Amino acid sequence: MCGIVAYIGDQPAAPFLIEGLKTLEYRGYDSAGLAVLGAKGTTAVRSVGRIRDLEAALPKRLAGKVGIGHTRWATHGPATEANAHPHRSEDGRISVVHNGIIDNSGMLRDRLTDAGVTLASDTDTEVIAHLVARSTADTLEAAVLDALGQISGTYALAVMDEAHPDRIVLARNGSPLIIGVGEKETLVASDAAALVRHTSQVIHLDDGELATVTAGGFHTFDRNAEATGRQPVEIEVAAAEWELTGHQHYMYKEMLEQPDKAAAVIRGRLDERFATARLNGLNLSPKELRAFRRVKILGCGSAYYVGQIGAQLIEDLARIPADAEAASEFRYRNPIIEPETLYVVVSQSGETADTAFAVSEIKRKGGTVVAVVNAVGSTIAREVHGGIYLHAGPEIAVASTKALTNMAIAFAMLALHMGRLRDLSVADGERILHALKRIPEQIQQVLDNEPAIAEVAKALAQAQNAFYIGRVRQYPVAREGAQKLKEISYVHAEAYPTSELKHGPLALIDESMITVAIVPDDDLTERNVGAVQQVLARGGQVVALSHESVDLQGLDVERIDVPKSEPELDPILMVIPTQLLAYHAALTLGYDIDKPRNLAKSVTVE
Ligand code: G6P
Repeated sequence: MCGIVAYIGDQPAAPFLIEGLKTLEYRGYDSAGLAVLGAKGTTAVRSVGRIRDLEAALPKRLAGKVGIGHTRWATHGPATEANAHPHRSEDGRISVVHNGIIDNSGMLRDRLTDAGVTLASDTDTEVIAHLVARSTADTLEAAVLDALGQISGTYALAVMDEAHPDRIVLARNGSPLIIGVGEKETLVASDAAALVRHTSQVIHLDDGELATVTAGGFHTFDRNAEATGRQPVEIEVAAAEWELTGHQHYMYKEMLEQPDKAAAVIRGRLDERFATARLNGLNLSPKELRAFRRVKILGCGSAYYVGQIGAQLIEDLARIPADAEAASEFRYRNPIIEPETLYVVVSQSGETADTAFAVSEIKRKGGTVVAVVNAVGSTIAREVHGGIYLHAGPEIAVASTKALTNMAIAFAMLALHMGRLRDLSVADGERILHALKRIPEQIQQVLDNEPAIAEVAKALAQAQNAFYIGRVRQYPVAREGAQKLKEISYVHAEAYPTSELKHGPLALIDESMITVAIVPDDDLTERNVGAVQQVLARGGQVVALSHESVDLQGLDVERIDVPKSEPELDPILMVIPTQLLAYHAALTLGYDIDKPRNLAKSVTVE
């Protein structure tokens, strides 16, 4: 979703701005722009489409050493050049890039129009440029504070002023903004990905915080203009983690990384002596953890589906009532927050607005909320009481794979930990612990089966519609599988609990319908095989995701076997072939796998 970059230093700003914007492309956008301040004033260029189009539209000489850039994902007004950022004051003196949403922009637009200002776009952002320009304050910092006093909403902002060419002023409220400290240059981005090639020294601004950046450094302060004295911290991820390293797609690279990354999330967290998991980052004592009577998991998209896998694991292993809900729904229904419920939010990016809002709402009502998060130092990670970091490394592809797998493993460890504080026996604890240790190599075995899965995917690519069905523990896997297929191959797919098939969807089965049925070796195998028979009897085609030990009774299905784990952990492995199926279907159809249409990696607006 929207991205910000900014540069001030001893080098021309444009190359960093373009490179930074390209790095942020993965987040999803529809237009882009930049403004560079040089000896002859501001040069601003904006364009609809890809960053390479913006790059092509730049003047040959663009020597200014101060600049701001932006990728826009349309919210207020369509993706047009006029709506792309930077937005500028009427005299061109002030240039602004903004992520987030200004809630009272309608009122401010009317007020500015009444005052004689001609608005040049449909956006909420434009008002900021006019408000800063109209401030009578002496300094740019004071003018930005003036403007912020009139707006309500969420923002990450970078403001450039021709009257103060030695600085860029930043402000953050609900949308991330990171300062990178370099040698004779200061860099800014809304995502660390754009900074890592240049510096490892960063400052994540806090909500309510502002900063002035200059070529020589930075100064952070609050809304009362009091210094906040922030110091840089070291980024832990190496720049190489953001590269494609010879693969055709990030999604493919990230799927292949899963055995290593799964090992990373488990590393140091299994306690053989007590047959449990060690999760010190939760910041919850055994006594506190035992006191919870329910667990509520919240996430969006794939993270929500993994939350459903997590809820089942917690009920299975810890015998605590648990459920998962879409954070995007939770936030709008005035949720009841109970002191005896442990709230667990789950997010790869740690920036998803709906999930972050759920965190604030739970905290505001006095609830205890922890997070399962991948991005270190992200908004959600910093807001919660504690959590489990996923150690999956940066995930670039919109379709989540390695982060999702590590989320499921993290939930298994949380369930094991909570279970062993309650009634889970040592023997059962050991059973789960040893199965967890084998997960990375078993993921590798699924990946090794890629050629066979790719073959099956060709049929999915030709389908108009597909069903994904799974029962109880495997139903969330079906939901996630269907979502992946939809997201990247645009084949319409729906997930149903296998038990529900006969209650309606069976009506749609005919020769053209493919059903991906999850048929694990567990106490429900016979019932699942029965459902497959019902589909076949109506002429439907079936892909069975199964275990070798399952007798499919010679049925005419395309079969993909995955290695067997313990029944509670089987869903973790069952997800892997659904990733490969979606990937190869999209590859067959020739789509832009890493950047599916209309989607963003990290949805930072409502
Ligand atoms: C977006 C992405 C999904 C992702 C969801 C949650 O909708 O397109 O792929 O699952 O956000 O993202 P998060 O970063 O919170 O895990």
